[in-house]
Amino acid sequence: MERVNPELVPQKTLYTGAKMPAIGLGTFGSDNYPGEVIAEAVAGAIRAGYRLIDCAAVYGNEHLIGPKIEEAIKEGIVKREELFVISKVWNDMHGDGDVLIAVAKTLKDLRLDYLDLYLIHWPFPNSHPPGASGDSRDPNAVPYIHENYMRTWRQMERLVDMGLVRHIGTSNMTVSKLEQVLRDARIKPAANEMELHPHFQQPELFKLCIDNDIVPIGFCPIGSPNRPERDRTPEDTSPIEDPVIVEIAERRGVHPAIICIKWAVQRGQVPIPFSVKPKNYISNLKAVTEDPLTDEEMAAINSIDRNCRLIKGQVFLWEGAESWEDLWK
Ligand SMILES: NC(=O)c1ccc[n+]([C@@H]2O[C@H](COP(=O)([O-])OP(=O)(O)OC[C@H]3O[C@@H](n4cnc5c(N)ncnc54)[C@H](OP(=O)(O)O)[C@@H]3O)[C@@H](O)[C@H]2O)c1
Repeated sequence: MERVNPELVPQKTLYTGAKMPAIGLGTFGSDNYPGEVIAEAVAGAIRAGYRLIDCAAVYGNEHLIGPKIEEAIKEGIVKREELFVISKVWNDMHGDGDVLIAVAKTLKDLRLDYLDLYLIHWPFPNSHPPGASGDSRDPNAVPYIHENYMRTWRQMERLVDMGLVRHIGTSNMTVSKLEQVLRDARIKPAANEMELHPHFQQPELFKLCIDNDIVPIGFCPIGSPNRPERDRTPEDTSPIEDPVIVEIAERRGVHPAIICIKWAVQRGQVPIPFSVKPKNYISNLKAVTEDPLTDEEMAAINSIDRNCRLIKGQVFLWEGAESWEDLWK
């Protein structure tokens, strides 16, 4: 198997001074792959040189990924301190006392004694069963309530105090929500995971992160071509089919996905592309170590933003909400 020297992979520095790789492997299989296959991809990706793994309790595969991480460490392929492992507390574990229970389960499943970064997956306690259809709704769903979010955040801060997690962060936020958290946090978010690809560049939220030394982690960096049916609408566009991206890819003789990855890292976010196929996940890693895009290519891609959010989160809507856009106010 081809291997990329992890020392060649660019690093980002968190506000604590800790480093994280500028690209990681996603582990949400969009309900298309069994957990065993995803865990095998994590094992292969670590062997190939990946050092950042983006996990979440709700992906239902941490108990399968953990043994692969443990094996890689035991076999001397990687040291724990060289890995940067992310996980996320799911929406049904925001209540008082629940976050500690959630992180304990994740640590046990991942066979780790600390996480490098722990995120609040969504800023709502609204939940849905895995694999839910797009029209399923949580009858107890509520809008964003800042006071409640901060109660969950206080629990996250305690995990840092306890040494169970090195950093804490947010996910699926908006400018106004993140500003409120920045105002009220004792330990501020070190990273914000958000949808980011050439057709959804979120310039204001991205800038807020950069200005506050929060690392933007970009999910769906390729435009999530295999996302679940519930996350598809007729208006969605695809960055890997954009003529600007396709033209640059053809000129360079690579897949358009590679151009999306290069753009992401050069722009300053940390993409976490998903694939279980070694050819794809290795080429994604390699992409950030060679042949950078030119300033002209970067400018051309910067100009194709279509404000096209793919992961709309409509399953988290509360009664009385009008559309998925209410989640993003
Ligand atoms: N925080 C959140 O709420 C949140 C939400 C969504 C996602 N995420 C995270 O972000 C990760 C990535 O998101 P995503 O999986 O939705 O979207 P994505 O990474 O944009 O797209 C993944 C798809 O792209 C294809 N692909 C990957 N590399 C490729 C390459 N080099 N050439 C051609 N095709 C390639 C893969 O197809 P093949 O399978 O054919 O390789 C895969 O199905 C998730 O796994 C998860 O960890 C987080």
